[in-house]
Amino acid sequence: MENTDKKQVVFSAIQPSGTITLGNYLGAVRNWVAMQNEYDCIYALADLHTITVRQEPAAMRRNILDAYASIMACGIDVEKSIFFIQSHVHTHAELAWILNCYTQFGELSRMTQFKDKSAKHADNINAGLFTYPSLMAGDILLYQADKVPVGADQQQHIELTRDIATRFNGLYGNVFKIPEGFIPKNGARVMSLQNPLSKMSKSDENVNGCVHLLDPPEVIMKKFKRAVTDSDACVRYAEGKDGVNNLMTIYGAVTGKSYEQIETEFAGKGYGDFKTAVGEAVVEELRPIRERYEQLIKDKAYLESCYHKADEIALKISSRTLSKVMKKIGFVR
Ligand code: TRP
Repeated sequence: MENTDKKQVVFSAIQPSGTITLGNYLGAVRNWVAMQNEYDCIYALADLHTITVRQEPAAMRRNILDAYASIMACGIDVEKSIFFIQSHVHTHAELAWILNCYTQFGELSRMTQFKDKSAKHADNINAGLFTYPSLMAGDILLYQADKVPVGADQQQHIELTRDIATRFNGLYGNVFKIPEGFIPKNGARVMSLQNPLSKMSKSDENVNGCVHLLDPPEVIMKKFKRAVTDSDACVRYAEGKDGVNNLMTIYGAVTGKSYEQIETEFAGKGYGDFKTAVGEAVVEELRPIRERYEQLIKDKAYLESCYHKADEIALKISSRTLSKVMKKIGFVR
């Protein structure tokens, strides 16, 4: 029986592998913020996942703190939600090992992200890159999460998580809640400003393709002014107009306007005006976030107190699940 008084548990995580981008914000973090009232939200910085690709130690340290402060600056309320750092909570690595033994080689081989990433990092196709989905499954299952908001690129991992959990429950009884993945309806899929066929990514080889959450206003404006469009010279959402479609998506996500409203607003105007408007809207959206970030990053002691508190709660919740799992399997407790 569902306990109707209790809020559903939402779990999600993001990799701190570099700066947080406008794509991360509009596609994920903004929804994390919005869900805080309706759900019991548990969010993590998935730093263990990050080392499946080689990281430079000093940069990694900086990226983790920056990501923590940036995401808090977006509006994660640490009084309401649990926002912790994955590597600080040892149950994650432990359950990941266990789940590896309940996940088939064939299943992991079919993950499209593994295929993509191993093509991209052909010199370092490590076992962690391959078993990454079992770590992710552990993240989710430890908290008995009901709902997992993720981008479309992670849906396959959620399906695998459900398969692993169902298999485990079949063997040992009801240990895991079977989570549901969902793509938030107002989560925009933001594409590169330079190559609108690929997702906006911090690893974009063209720096103008990616807007970072902490980019100064003049940099944001410059990137939007250089954004790739087309020769149609008309602001309308249509197939084949990937650059314009992407700008319309961003503008719509930030202003709340529909595609029709945007088309009307820019009827008879050129792309120059449109790009300026999109840039300005993004600058205004990000301004308070950047200001809040600047305050937070100066106060390392406060940041530390926030994640230590969250780490502790996460450990407590996740230990209950891990204990149950180990007992069921037959480990001596
Ligand atoms: N793999 C996810 C990504 O790269 C991040 C992640 C790690 C995650 N663990 C998770 C997302 C658990 C949702 C739930 O985007």
